[in-house]
Amino acid sequence: MKVLVIGSGGREHAMAWKLAQSSLVERVYVAPGNGGTALEPKCRNVAVSGSDPANPAAQTFLVDFARKEGIELTVVGPEAPLAAGIADTFTAAGLPIVGPTGDAARLESRKAFAKQFMAAHGVRTAKSNTVTTLKAGLDLVTEHFGSRAQVRPLVIKADGLAAGKGVVITDRADEAETTLRDFMEGKALGDAGTTVVIEEFLEGKEISILAAVQAGPDLAPGTARIIPFLPARDHKRRYDGSQGPNTGGMGAIAPVSDFTAGAAADFTQHILEPTLRGLEAEGLRYKGFIFFGLMVYEDRCYLLEYNVRLGDPETQAVLPLMASDFAELCQHIAKGSLHQYTLQWKSGHVCAPVAVAEGYPGSYRKGDPIRIDRKRITALGAQVFIAGANLDQNILSGETGSKETGSGGTEGGLLRTSGGRVLAVSAQGDTPEAARARAYQAMETVQFTGMGYRRDIGAS
Ligand code: AMP
Ligand code: GLY
Repeated sequence: MKVLVIGSGGREHAMAWKLAQSSLVERVYVAPGNGGTALEPKCRNVAVSGSDPANPAAQTFLVDFARKEGIELTVVGPEAPLAAGIADTFTAAGLPIVGPTGDAARLESRKAFAKQFMAAHGVRTAKSNTVTTLKAGLDLVTEHFGSRAQVRPLVIKADGLAAGKGVVITDRADEAETTLRDFMEGKALGDAGTTVVIEEFLEGKEISILAAVQAGPDLAPGTARIIPFLPARDHKRRYDGSQGPNTGGMGAIAPVSDFTAGAAADFTQHILEPTLRGLEAEGLRYKGFIFFGLMVYEDRCYLLEYNVRLGDPETQAVLPLMASDFAELCQHIAKGSLHQYTLQWKSGHVCAPVAVAEGYPGSYRKGDPIRIDRKRITALGAQVFIAGANLDQNILSGETGSKETGSGGTEGGLLRTSGGRVLAVSAQGDTPEAARARAYQAMETVQFTGMGYRRDIGAS
C-alpha cells in the first residue's frame, strides 16, 4: 500500500523509516518532509501547496493528493494539523487516517480543557486553577507567595499552543506577575495566552509514555484501548547536567530503567485507565497516538500534559525498538481493530542524542553542509534521523524523488542544515550504557559547522 506521513521533523523521518520497512508498504509519501525523508529508500517528499498542513487550503490539497495517489493510510506527525481538524477532514472524505479529531486534540491544544478533563475523570495531576482575567491570576499569585520567605515555585501555563514557549516556572512573585501580564495583557503568545492555567510545582523524574489509542462512539462497546509503548525520557535543557535554556528536546533514551514495575502499575491505574474512561464518557473520537508527559515521584505518577501525537525526539528512540510492523499497527488504529492486536518489542535500549545548530534555541546558523559517514553508521547499526536539514539545491535541481543514497562511505554535501534541531542519531545496545556508547560513536561520524550536542543523553 501507499502511505502518507504528514510533517517535516525528526519524528516524521523516524515514522517514515519505520513504515518503509514494512512489507505491506510500497511507498511512503511525506508531506512536506525534509532532506532525510527525501533520501530514505521507498520514501518521497510531497511539496504541500499552502505549505502549512494546518491550514484549510493545505488540507484540501492533501485530501486531493491522497485520492489521486490511492493513499490507503495517512499518519499525522505534529499537533497543529490535528488541532486544525485534519483527521475530521480525511475521515469525512472516506480516507483512513491515524490521528484524533480536532475535538479530541484539545487535550493538547487547550491546557484548560485538558486540566478540566483530568479533574472530571480522576486522572492524577498537579493541583491547578484556570484564570481568564488578569486580576484573578494576580490574586492567585499574591495568595501563593504571600509574605512567606520560603515558597514552592509556581507553574504558569498558557492555554493554547505556544511552540514550547507557553510554560514558565518561577519562585518569584514579580516574575509570576510579569509572566501573567505578558501572556494575558501583552498578548506575547497571541490568543494562546488569554486563558492561563496556574498550577503547583511537582518534583520528581520526568517520563514520556507514548501510546496507541482507539476510542469513540463509532467503536463496538468494550473495544476502546490505549496501548502504551516502552517508557522514554527526553532531555529538554540545552546543556549537560540539565543546565541552560529549554529546547524542543536534546535527545531521548528508551526504555527508561528507573520507571519501575510499581510506577508502571500506578500509571495504568491512575492515568491510563481514567484517561480511557474519560475519552469514552465524553464521546471523543480518537484513533491515533497519545503522549503522557509524566512526573514520577516515589513510584507515584502525575500527568503534566497530554500531547495528541508521538513525541519528538522520543519517537526516534522508541520506534527502533518496536518489533511489530508499524504500518500494521497504524492500520489497526485507523480501522478500530487495535483490541485484536498485540504489540511486540525488541529487547535492549536505544539512545538518540540530537545535534543542534550553533545558537539554538536562540537564533541559529543555517545552510551549513552536513557530512555523514554512512558506512560507519551502518557498521554501528545506527540510524540518522534528519530533523532540520534540506537537500542541497544543486541536487534538488537534478533528480529528486527516487534517490537511494548508495552503499556507503562518507556522504558530504547532500544535506544542508535548515533548522535548530538538525538531526538525531539512534543506536541500540543491550544496556543503556552500551546504547549510549554506540550512539556517541555514531554522532562522531557526523559533522557540520557549529554542531553541538549533549553528551549525557540517557545517563540518569
Ligand atoms: P508542558 O508543556 O506542560 O509539558 O510543560 C513543559 C515542561 O515544564 C515539562 O516538561 C516540565 O519539565 C515542566 N512542568 C510542567 N508542569 C510542571 C509542574 N506542575 N511541576 C513541575 N514541572 C512542570
Ligand atoms: N519531547 C516532548 C514533545 O514531543 O513534546
